[in-house]
This record gives sequence, structure tokens and C-alpha cells, in this order.
Amino acid sequence: MYNFSFKNPTKLIFGKGSISKISQEISKDKKIMLVFGGGSVKKNGVYNQVAEALEAHDYIEFWGVEPNPTYETLMKAVLQAREHQVDFLLAVGGGSVIDGTKFIASAIPYESEPWELVLNDKTIKQVVPLASVLTLPATGSEMNGGAVISKKSTQEKYAFHHPLIYPTFSVLDPESCYSLPKEQIAAGIADTFVHVLEQYLTKTNQSMVMDRFAEGLLLTLIKLAPKLMLNHQNYDDMANFMLTATMGLNGFVGMGVMQDWATHLIGHELTALHGLTHGVSLAVVGPALMQVMRKDKEDKLIQYAERVWNIKGKDKNETIDTAIDCTEKFYRSLGIKTKLSEHGIGEDAVTEIVRRFTERNTILGENQNITPDKVKEILDVCK
Ligand code: NZQ
Ligand code: ZN
Repeated sequence: MYNFSFKNPTKLIFGKGSISKISQEISKDKKIMLVFGGGSVKKNGVYNQVAEALEAHDYIEFWGVEPNPTYETLMKAVLQAREHQVDFLLAVGGGSVIDGTKFIASAIPYESEPWELVLNDKTIKQVVPLASVLTLPATGSEMNGGAVISKKSTQEKYAFHHPLIYPTFSVLDPESCYSLPKEQIAAGIADTFVHVLEQYLTKTNQSMVMDRFAEGLLLTLIKLAPKLMLNHQNYDDMANFMLTATMGLNGFVGMGVMQDWATHLIGHELTALHGLTHGVSLAVVGPALMQVMRKDKEDKLIQYAERVWNIKGKDKNETIDTAIDCTEKFYRSLGIKTKLSEHGIGEDAVTEIVRRFTERNTILGENQNITPDKVKEILDVCK
């Protein structure tokens, strides 16, 4: 096991009716900015619950943070927040709204060009405190110190991380997710599954307990997925999914182990260039990455096959082939198309992604050996 330090400062407030508790969590002397997406919270009653809870608080509202939140939109919120001297931010929505709020929180006090914060998170020195009311289980943003921001003008998408951007608290009411469209449930399951794989599918014998945590989350998702795809308005199923998604990317399965994240970084480019939904981009890239990197990941792929999919092939190769096949079939069972051609994405995208990684000197993977040439091999398998 590698040395590590671990701290997660986010207070989780979980369960039915929990949104009303936000009034006790935010001091009344704060000037709050509520940050929202495109309006789903107006239709499902979450907005009313938040407004009611904050009746006695002083707040302004910012609407319109889009999926894959853009710098261009978020800068409008930054200017409004500065103008109104906002000193607390509450994100109400999915990962995009929470990530966008993390950017706004970092940009308000920053005196230079805020895009620098995304490109180099070491420039973050102070932030306005933020919290969240989550309406979409997927990203783990409600309990982590990461955010992913896109720039429309250049079709770029990057992640940044900082200990100061963990939400101070996050409210998770499974009933707020009943209104999600099926495709978002599917993308959220795939995203969570890949978060766990990025931290698990590297090499064996690093941490017994992390392996078992990770396998527990993967097995939970496999069990829940068909139920959720049939009916996602069952309280216990949604509660289990919501907690699994949070646990998938809040640092708890990553202690002391190597991490990959290449599927994410390649997926981000597909989203930046073609607008592919985040979870869908991962379902396309993930199985292909396992295929191309199978030698490096051999022992762990076998452990994954045996413990997660209950596979006993006649030899190593058959075991790994079956595990990769099961993974791809799992994504397809969610209704996700796992090939680039099925999304109308052709050779141009592959060429552009390889060009970008070459220009940026990007090398990916837990062993830092996924070069732009390897990325091309991976994308070729995705076709
Ligand atoms: O904008 P509204 O109207 O709210 O609609 C949203 C949006 O259209 C809708 N939605 C959310 N909750 C709903 C709902 N519709 C009905 N009922 C509800 N309860 O769902 C759509 C997608 O929302 P979005 O927030 O974009 O989805 P998600 O949570 O998957 O977030 C994706 C973003 O998070 C980043 C991704 O790259 C992407 O930009 N990620 C952030 C991470 C992090 N911070 O740690 C890690 C992830 O790997 C990921 O990269
Ligand atoms: Zn993700």
C-alpha cells in the first residue's frame, strides 16, 4: 500500500425530506447565491423545497449552468456574485451545477483571469464556501474536491482539484432523483462504475480493503442496474444507488492504491469535441482501454473477472475476454451505445484527439505509459 493522507470534510445529509435541513446549515448573515441548471428543479419540486427552507435567508439566484458547464456561462455568475458580494454558494442540481459552482467559488476572489484556475489548480488560494443539493447520482462531486469545466470557444474540457472546493455539506434526497430521464440514470450508473474501475483496475495486492470496497460498489451497481432501468422511483433502490455513486468518487476507494483515469481523460475529449454525455463517453472508451492495456492490467483483470463477474475461463485470455465482454454488455444493458460509429463519430475525432494529446505531451494511465499512439489504438478499438 502506498503512503497517503486522507481527509474528506463534506457533511452528508442523506434521506427523504432532508432539503428542509439546509436552513440550519447556512448562517443567516450570509449573502447566498443559489446556482441552478436548466430548470429541472422547477418541475420536480426541488426548487420549492430549497426556497421554502431558505425563506429567512438572503439569496440571489443564478440559472442556466449547462451540462458540461462552460467557462463562458460561469463567468456571468462570477460577475453577478461579485456585484452582490455573495459569500456563500449553494449548488442545486447534478454534477455540472456542482462543478460549475466550484469554479464560481474559486473565481470570485481570484484577481487574474479565472481560466488559469482550471489550467493550474495550484493558483487557488481562497474560495467562497459552497454546499450542494444533489439531484443526479453520478459524479461524486457532492463529496469531492474536483470539478470539470469546459471552454466553448476552444472546445476544451479539463478537470481541476483543490482541497478548498469540497462542499461544506451536501444534501442527498433520493426522491429528488425520481424525475430523472432514463438516459441520465444509465449515464450515472456507467459513470459510477467507471469511477470505481479507474481506482481498482490497476494492479493486484495493493490494498485488500480497497479491493473489497471497490468490488462491493461494482457488485451493488450490477445488482441495482436492471431494477433502476425498470423503475427508478423505488426509494431503497435509488437510495442505494445515490450512496454508491457518492462512495465511488469521494476518496474512500482510492486510499493507498494506484489510479488510472485514462478512460476519463480520453472521454472528456469526446465530450469536448462531440458533446457526448460524460457517462456515455466512458462506456465507449472503457472496454477498449481494458482490451489495449490487458497485459499491464492482466492480474487485476483476472481478479475483476472472478470476483465481480464470477467468471472462470479455461485460461487467462479467455477469462479476460469474457470480463471485457461482460463490462461492455453491462453498459449496453443500460441502453448505452458503446461504439463511436453508433454516435456518428468518425476518424476526424480520433486524429484530433491524438493531435491534442501529442501537442500537450499528455501521457496517461497508472503506469504513465498510455502515449498518444496507445490512445489511437484504444480509439481504433472503439470504432
Ligand atoms: O440542467 P437541468 O435542467 O437541471 O437538467 C439536468 C441536465 O440536463 C438533468 N437533471 C439533473 N437532475 C435532474 C435532471 N433532470 C430531471 N430530474 C433531475 N432530478 O440532467 C442533465 C445532466 O446533468 P449533469 O449535471 O450534466 O449530469 P452529471 O451529474 O452526470 O454531471 C456531468 C458533469 O460532471 C463532470 C462531467 O465531466 C460533466 O461535465 N464530472 C465531474 C466529476 C467531479 N466533479 O468529480 C467527476 C466525473 O468523472 C465527471 O467528469
Ligand atoms: Zn466520471
